[in-house]
Amino acid sequence: MDKIRIAIFASGSGSNAENIVKYFEGHSQVQVASILTNNPNAYVLERAARLGVESFVFTKEEFSKQGIVATYLHAKRIDFIVLAGFLLLVPQYLVDTYPDRIINIHPALLPDFGGKGMYGSKVHKAVVASGAKQSGITIHLVNSEYDKGKIIFQAQCEVAAADTPDTLAEKVHALEYKYFPEQIEGYVLGK
Ligand code: GRF
Repeated sequence: MDKIRIAIFASGSGSNAENIVKYFEGHSQVQVASILTNNPNAYVLERAARLGVESFVFTKEEFSKQGIVATYLHAKRIDFIVLAGFLLLVPQYLVDTYPDRIINIHPALLPDFGGKGMYGSKVHKAVVASGAKQSGITIHLVNSEYDKGKIIFQAQCEVAAADTPDTLAEKVHALEYKYFPEQIEGYVLGK
């Protein structure tokens, strides 16, 4: 029985990508087949090399229309796409090619603090500035609008008065590392 093949897209550090790769190492039914990025300088490429996972770099232009990225994913027989700190909007051709098979994680409780431009520390700054008492993670399916797809899972953490965007980011990252791999596993095995 062929394993379910996942491609991870990341634009930056890739700590979530690494965490996911490690979670599925030796897994009997699921494997991370490739890590893709739009950023040739992304640290995630170092992580991929160290982890022995194939990587693929593309430009924003190449990604924006049906072309080498779609061809690559097809050639690698990818079944699901996981966005882990990927900053580009997913074009309609990819959403159409992988319907309900693109999963993203957002470091806040959508629908709050989401949408274009809301990523990384900008999210935590907005949450702290808002006086919100809770934050957390949202794992959701991807459609062609930022952070608007069906929500699969959410986990919360407290935002204490003493929290800064950095201390909140640490709490949110801890939730990401704890829940993202198992939520991916549950979703891809359930489809
Ligand atoms: C994470 O906070 C994730 O929720 C968001 O981007 C960040 C990626 O961090 N989508 P890393 O590149 O996985 O370290």
